[in-house]
Amino acid sequence: MKYDVRQLPLISNREIADGIFDMRLSLEGEELTVSCGQFAHVYVPGKTLRRPISVCDASDGVLRLVYQVKGEGTKIMSQMNGGSVDVLYPLGNGFDIKSGKRYCLIGGGIGVPPMLYTAKQCEAPLVITGFRSESLVILQDDFKAAGCEVLLCTDDGTAGRQGFVTDLLKENISRVDEVCACGPSPMLRAVAAVCREQGVPCQISLEERMGCGVGACLVCAVKVCKNGEEIMQHVCKDGPVFNAEEVVF
Ligand SMILES: Cc1cc2nc3c(=O)[nH]c(=O)nc-3n(C[C@H](O)[C@H](O)[C@H](O)COP(=O)(O)OP(=O)(O)OC[C@H]3O[C@@H](n4cnc5c(N)ncnc54)[C@H](O)[C@@H]3O)c2cc1C
Ligand code: FES
Repeated sequence: MKYDVRQLPLISNREIADGIFDMRLSLEGEELTVSCGQFAHVYVPGKTLRRPISVCDASDGVLRLVYQVKGEGTKIMSQMNGGSVDVLYPLGNGFDIKSGKRYCLIGGGIGVPPMLYTAKQCEAPLVITGFRSESLVILQDDFKAAGCEVLLCTDDGTAGRQGFVTDLLKENISRVDEVCACGPSPMLRAVAAVCREQGVPCQISLEERMGCGVGACLVCAVKVCKNGEEIMQHVCKDGPVFNAEEVVF
C-alpha cells in the first residue's frame, strides 16, 4: 500500500447542503494512484488525531472530500479558507470493480460521496442514493454528469421517492450483477440481507472510529468471518471495504 503525507493547496471549501461541505484540493501533478473507496486522513490544526474522509473524487488534478460537520474537527475543517491542507492518503482498500459487470452503487447520507469516484470506475452503473430529507441531498448532478442512472429517495419524501434505499434495491436488483454500498451500519446490514436473499455479491464500506489510520493502533478493529473462523481485522488497513458476507454485524 503506497501512501504519503502531502500539503495540498486548498482550492475551495463550499457548503453544498445543510452542514455538508465540498473541499477541493489541488493534486499539483501528484503521482499517487487512488482507488475508489479509499480515504484520506486529514490533519486538523489543534487536534492530535486526523479525521478520516473518503475520497469523493480524484480526477483532473483535484482531490475532492465531501464531509458533514459532526464535531469539533469537521467544524474546524469547514472554516478552512486558504493555504494548504495536510493530508495522509490514499489509505485503505477500496471497492473491487471489474469490467463487464453492471454495478449498483448505494450511498446513504454521508456515505454517498465515495460512490461518485466509484461510479467513475464503473460502466453505466445504477446509483441509488438515500437521505433523511431534501436539505441533505448532495451530488445528484455529479452522478448524472458521470453518465449514471441515479435514483433518489428520502426518509420523509421531501425529495425523490419516500422510502429507503433497500426498497429501490429490491425493485432493481434483477438489473445488476453486483452491489457496492456505503452508509450507516443499519443500512449496510439491510442491503447485505437483500443481496444475500437474491444471491447477488455485495461489498460494503464500514465506518469505525480511527486513530492512526494505517493499522498500528487497533482502534478500528471489526469482527469478520473468513473460512468459518471469526477474526478481528482493521477497518483502516484491511478495509474500509469488506465482502458483506464476511462481516459480523
Ligand atoms: C473510512 C471512513 C471514511 C469516512 N468518510 C467520510 C466522508 O466522506 N464524509 C464524512 O462526512 N464523514 C466521513 N467519515 C466520518 C468522519 O471521519 C467523522 O464524521 C469525523 O471524523 C468526525 O470528526 P469530528 O472531530 O467532527 O467529530 P468528533 O465526534 O468530535 O470526533 C472525535 C474523534 O472521534 C472520531 N470520529 C467521530 N466520529 C467518527 C466516525 N463516524 N468515523 C470515524 N471516526 C470518527 C474523530 O475522527 C475524532 O478522532 C468517515 C469515517 C471513516 C472511518
Ligand atoms: S486506526 Fe489505527 S489500526 Fe486502524
